[in-house]
Amino acid sequence: MDRLTTVPLNVESIRKDFPILKRKINGHPLVYLDSAATTQKPKQVIQALTGFYEKHNSNVHRGVHTLSQEATELYDASRQKVADLINAKFEEVVFVRNATEAANIVLYSWAMKNLKKGDEIVSTVMEHHSNIVPWQSLQKQGVKLKFVDIDEEGKLKMEQFSELLTPRTKLVAVTQVSNVLGTINPAGEICKMAHDNGSLVFVDAAQSVPHMPVDVKNIDCDFLMFSGHKMLAPTGIGCLYGKADILESMEPFLLGSDMIKSVSLEEATFRESPWKFEPGTPNFGDAVALGAAVDYLQKIGMNNIREHEKGLAGHALNAMQDVKGIKIFGPKDTDIKGGVVSFNLGDIHSHDLATVLDNEGIAIRSGHHCAMPLMDRLGIAAASRASFYIYNTKKEIDMFINALEKARRIFKL
Ligand code: ALA
Repeated sequence: MDRLTTVPLNVESIRKDFPILKRKINGHPLVYLDSAATTQKPKQVIQALTGFYEKHNSNVHRGVHTLSQEATELYDASRQKVADLINAKFEEVVFVRNATEAANIVLYSWAMKNLKKGDEIVSTVMEHHSNIVPWQSLQKQGVKLKFVDIDEEGKLKMEQFSELLTPRTKLVAVTQVSNVLGTINPAGEICKMAHDNGSLVFVDAAQSVPHMPVDVKNIDCDFLMFSGHKMLAPTGIGCLYGKADILESMEPFLLGSDMIKSVSLEEATFRESPWKFEPGTPNFGDAVALGAAVDYLQKIGMNNIREHEKGLAGHALNAMQDVKGIKIFGPKDTDIKGGVVSFNLGDIHSHDLATVLDNEGIAIRSGHHCAMPLMDRLGIAAASRASFYIYNTKKEIDMFINALEKARRIFKL
């Protein structure tokens, strides 16, 4: 579906699915603008979770009894739904606790085995800690990290990829959408450059898979990670995508039950992907709820969600630019910006600003956003961030702008 064939979201109807949106905060209706940190959950997902425990709960892949078979079928069906969402194969989707765990699987099972002294990783200054800290740990085995910078607009300096990629570059680790700047990076173009150089690519899709169509075959990334809780699902469930042949070549790093094929007193053999990366009893209850979240998103349509957020980001950017003393970080062009607007207002600390907004019922994130190197690059200690999702409206953004003006008056800006 292209942009012309998208349909507007029925936000009024969507909002009715989210029980928490009826809440009042400090006497005001909740305006939830912190979905980049975690999204709210619709009743369809909550019911999928409670329904699983009320009707189907049993351990997966272990029993021949009816409940175990039902639980296994539901668990497998969720994996297939996730695979379909990102155009992957069933065996290419590994369930993990969160995106960070996905990065750590790649660190322990692939990078530590395949990278040696003198090898290099190219990343960017806009990465979330989860896409920096794991790779930093490879420095103790002599691996060198290099970072692509951003321009004044908050876009990657793409020409730096060709400068930084060398025959020693084994991995490129890049976010598809910055959780602070909102910048949508050309992930496919980066993969092409990396592959031409013989490097693999790890994509952080925590802020893209929930918000836009993501096709791993089209991007041609080797690994990709995302979290369930940022896409309507419960906490504690996320996904690692890996190309089938690469996952197959990797040794598991957590060893134990359920990921084994056979065990003797002396040795064990392991199952194939994805199960070899899911030791112990997996988080099947939350995985089933993630499947329900994917159903919910697919019913709305990822293209439609992207257009909705683009409209909200455009509306916010237009209005915010008129707020005196505001400094907005990241692109202003909504074609390359997700539904995330970070900013600082005068010299008000972001925690103080977030407190004033909370008094008005408005939830925004403040602080370093788990992106301290980017804060350093921007020359700031912290920022405020409003982030949008399927249940947000332009009216809510107007309330947010009014609250910013109120903060200006309180702080005498
Ligand atoms: N990484 C999440 C955020 O950006 C928690 O807020």
